[in-house]
Amino acid sequence: MDSMSPIERSLGQALRLAHAADGPPSLAAAMRYAVFPGGARIRPRLCLAVARACADDRPGLSAAMAVAIELMHCASLVHDDLPCFDDAPTRRGRASVHKAFGEPIAVLAGDALIVLAFQFLADAGRGAPARLPAMIGIVARAAGAPHGITAGQAWESEKDIALAAYQRAKTGALFAAATAGGACAAGHAERSWHPLGERIGEAYQIADDIRDVVSNERDLGKPVGRDASLGRPNAVASFGLRGAVARLEDLVASAIAAIPPCPGALELRAHITAEASRLLPRELARPAA
Ligand code: IPE
Ligand code: IPE
Ligand code: MG
Ligand code: MG
Repeated sequence: MDSMSPIERSLGQALRLAHAADGPPSLAAAMRYAVFPGGARIRPRLCLAVARACADDRPGLSAAMAVAIELMHCASLVHDDLPCFDDAPTRRGRASVHKAFGEPIAVLAGDALIVLAFQFLADAGRGAPARLPAMIGIVARAAGAPHGITAGQAWESEKDIALAAYQRAKTGALFAAATAGGACAAGHAERSWHPLGERIGEAYQIADDIRDVVSNERDLGKPVGRDASLGRPNAVASFGLRGAVARLEDLVASAIAAIPPCPGALELRAHITAEASRLLPRELARPAA
């Protein structure tokens, strides 16, 4: 029996497009290494949960959207770990891509994963020409400038960093693409779905900032204390631990309040509540009321 989840299966399908017997083997291996085994897969799961809430009438299209979002995320981690950014030797509990394959292949693997995201989306969207342009726009805006992941990383090279703009771009944008993209793939207007993703993304980045301060490398599978040592903005540094936790809780509540009217709103609410309950380390989480 095939016990793989649909997301893992679709990611495997996408990765096969990047592999050929006469292609450079290290590049294909590094791309696969960057995607499998995965982490939380929180963005593609959110994308599919929104599509389901919108009565997903084209599961092939929503699956491609979820894959494009996750490929973009994995690419961003490969680049983020490079010596010129966070210089992280580990990721997901093992050597980061540049440590395992060298810097040139890591840069190229990240680039090729970004391109693969669009290629996979374009292939899946052949039968849905009315939806495809908007879907491509959603992924492109989340990845590029002035408000996508690229812009988020670029803020780190500025003298003065605005914490909210930085977090919105480096993390919020891709979560907003997950919610808007899931709705769009299911034939719903994307606009009302952005605030939900933006708020979940901001909450997620605050949780990551908190873990960077209070957790350890063994549990996280990546270095901790990095924000302080690199002088990066961090929600705990800005608001204190209690302030950061309170902000996270407010954001989750306002995300849930931002769920647009849709056939599966109740199930989506349950999905987000369950995800949110896992954001904080257990010792910081407030027991459920
Ligand atoms: C890490 O993202 C980078 C952030 C924006 C916080 P994830 O915590 O989703 O990483 P994986 O995919 O689960 O490893
Ligand atoms: C990463 O932010 C966000 C990206 C766009 C890759 P961080 O640098 O805070 O994430 P981690 O802690 O390395 O996963
Ligand atoms: Mg970083
Ligand atoms: Mg980092």
